[in-house]
Amino acid sequence: MSAADSAFLRACRGQPVDHVPVWFMRQAGRSLPEYRATRGSGSILDAIRQPDLAAELTLQPVRRYGVDAAILFSDIVVPVAVSGFGVEVEAGRGPVVREPFASPADLSRLRPVSAQQDFGFVTETVKLVVAELGPVPLIGFAGAPFTVASYLVEGGPSRHYARTKALMHGDPELWSALLDRLAELSLAFLLAQVDAGASAVQIFDSWAGALAPDEYARSVLPASVKVLHGLEASGVPRIHFGVGTGELLQLMAEAGSEVVGVDWRVPLDEARRRLGPQVAVQGNLDPALCLAPWDVVERAARGVLARGGGTGHIFNLGHGVLPETDPDTLARLVQLVHESPSPPPWPEPGP
Ligand code: CP3
Repeated sequence: MSAADSAFLRACRGQPVDHVPVWFMRQAGRSLPEYRATRGSGSILDAIRQPDLAAELTLQPVRRYGVDAAILFSDIVVPVAVSGFGVEVEAGRGPVVREPFASPADLSRLRPVSAQQDFGFVTETVKLVVAELGPVPLIGFAGAPFTVASYLVEGGPSRHYARTKALMHGDPELWSALLDRLAELSLAFLLAQVDAGASAVQIFDSWAGALAPDEYARSVLPASVKVLHGLEASGVPRIHFGVGTGELLQLMAEAGSEVVGVDWRVPLDEARRRLGPQVAVQGNLDPALCLAPWDVVERAARGVLARGGGTGHIFNLGHGVLPETDPDTLARLVQLVHESPSPPPWPEPGP
């Protein structure tokens, strides 16, 4: 079997599968003892630039859990770091920018990058990983322009996105220039991963749920569309994910992707109604429930599988694995999903 015939890629395309595929956002990370042992204490941005280390951290969850896809060990702020915009990632906190983006002069701190010349470490990591994975597909990823912009403008993680929204509404021209530049960076990063052998990509717009639909449509969606359209010719399935995006799902479906990732707030059958029949769904077990006793996890997971409807469903959490998660719970979840009865066949189009 090749990666192209894998349950994961078939599900992305809405084709029949013999089991629902499963992987976990943030499956590599602090919930794994082998991650803590291998990763060391340096900056994650340094670890990401070491292909042997980054490849090993990508492979660890595949070995332990038997998930249906690997996701590259990297971060959404890597392209802006490569472009020279000063950004650090603080353990336990996330991306931090000491001199936040505030004026047109800051655009020049985002040097244009090229997929071929600036991401050699990514190319090398992807090649190492793909050689080891055999038929298991590798997912490449990038941040969507809005979510990355929020870190640059706020200077770090945010609750209210007040500065970001102030810039979006107060200086729409500068805002759209920023999002445009970030779209180019994310696209170059994704194309480097796909050219090196990634078989699918996910765009993380983790914080888009902070926006009203009209704001999202006017000020954010065009830049995400630019990233998604830029990948179209490559032919790899695109997964578009955000948290708290129940009211944005129709707009996200219009943006153009094979799969939309949904958090736990919207049941998957309702998400499908909002998305329409052309789009596969990914999700959406609440990651917090993975800290509950197994019978709770099991019942919730069966509910997700039932509402996911089998074909065109990729099982995942509704957001990333929490660091406190017991790895055995995720191992049992993979087993449960794989052993669940075969999904019903894709309904034939009516007469
Ligand atoms: O999913 C995977 O296992 C692949 C690796 C991955 C990381 N970051 C590694 C990482 C992925 C897909 C990401 C994406 C990412 N990074 C997102 C989108 C996903 C989401 O959670 O919404 C966001 C918002 C970021 C920004 C970021 N980087 C945050 C919020 C943090 C967490 C800070 C913390 O310590 O809790 C990081 C750091 C980070 N990125 C870690 C890992 C494994 C943990 C810190 C470390 O090991 O140094």
